[in-house]
Amino acid sequence: MAIPREQGLDHTHDLVSEGFFYIPNRRRKFQSDIFHTRLFGQKVVCMGGEKATEVFYDETKFKRKGAAPSRIKESLFGKGGVQGLDGSAHKHRKHLFMSLMTSEYLNELRAITRKQWRIAIDNWKEKRELSLLHESEKLMCRIACEWADVPLFASELNQRARDLAAMIDAFGAVGPRHWKGRMARNRSEKWVRRLIRQVRSGDRHPREGTALYEIAWHRNLNGKLLSLQIAAVELLNVLRPITAIGRYVTFGALAMHDFPETKAKLQTRNDKDKRMFAQEVRRYYPFAPFLGARVRYNFKWGGCHFRKGTLVLLDIYGTNHDPEIWDNPDMFRPERFEEWDGSPFNFIPQGGGDYSMGHRCAGEWITIDVMKISLEFLANKIDYQLPTQNLDYSMIRIPPLPKSRLMINQVTNK
Ligand code: HEM
Repeated sequence: MAIPREQGLDHTHDLVSEGFFYIPNRRRKFQSDIFHTRLFGQKVVCMGGEKATEVFYDETKFKRKGAAPSRIKESLFGKGGVQGLDGSAHKHRKHLFMSLMTSEYLNELRAITRKQWRIAIDNWKEKRELSLLHESEKLMCRIACEWADVPLFASELNQRARDLAAMIDAFGAVGPRHWKGRMARNRSEKWVRRLIRQVRSGDRHPREGTALYEIAWHRNLNGKLLSLQIAAVELLNVLRPITAIGRYVTFGALAMHDFPETKAKLQTRNDKDKRMFAQEVRRYYPFAPFLGARVRYNFKWGGCHFRKGTLVLLDIYGTNHDPEIWDNPDMFRPERFEEWDGSPFNFIPQGGGDYSMGHRCAGEWITIDVMKISLEFLANKIDYQLPTQNLDYSMIRIPPLPKSRLMINQVTNK
């Protein structure tokens, strides 16, 4: 079967105007999980669905070097980090992240999360009105720093949290939002470079096993310490995405508001129910639309000739809403996860495949744990009201956010 080809010189404009729906719209129109197009002035293959995800995560076929555009490195990722590595250099660096995921260190994260929620609630009760998005980002920033053994003075909290959040908010942006993300990255890299320098010179003593310690003392395959700059990028690869969980917390609160009948899932003693709620938030709400990789060598799959060097985009959002995989994908229904088969290729909000061997998100367990605890606090420990506001989120803006940033008031303990 011939692979459909979108006609025309370039479709970047359509991508910008259709956002999260650009790939799913064409998969539906062409009735094909794979199609050719032209984006960013080059030939591109777009694909989605379970089988396509499995191929995308076959490292012998795809590489990441040269896949991410500079604007994403300048804001979201930073330069020289794990996201752009391939082969043994990638596995070695990825091990640094996965070695942080011990049960003791994850238990510590859970305890810190609970403690920081209690502190935040005491503070929220004093406020007349607050943005749940901004407050959750600050809260997540505190959790991230405490867990990583990164000092954070009360006076710098707002700036650090704003900067970490701005890097995330910039990833699909052009213009001022992109520049804000770049400036935030420059400031943040300077901050954490100084910390790593202090660790290496013996002026700071983080605990062994913490992210700051392990990243500061990590050695490359050639036995050398990471450059100060790359160590800073990797430490931010822990602090920034933990802060990003604030967005899922916000979407979780939106789900409780929009689908109040599902809130009961967070109000039981059953851990499985809470997990299903968190999973459905990650499936239903948009975060990253697609991922990019480049073809490592010529090969043929599903009737498509993949030519070496071609950019390939994997449809994350469309796979999480694929009617071949999910019944009524556009309904928020946590109990669908009762029947989920656990495949690493059909539910991919944070990438797919294997954690250690491939590029799947190193922090997926952290994300689920922190979301579960956070949503439980929102559902069970406090009462609050939502004043009239615009809770819509645009599927064109990448990454999306409720327009009002989700304002709440009258916060009291239950
Ligand atoms: C990679 C999403 C939280 C660390 C990724 C990828 C996505 C993602 C889509 C790319 C997967 C790929 O390239 O195949 C998210 C979302 C999060 C989140 C939506 C929560 C809001 C975290 C947390 C950490 C983390 C809490 C903390 C350690 C990483 C790292 C990578 C990554 C280090 C690069 C992995 C690699 O290239 O091998 N994440 N993530 N993420 N994430 Fe997350």
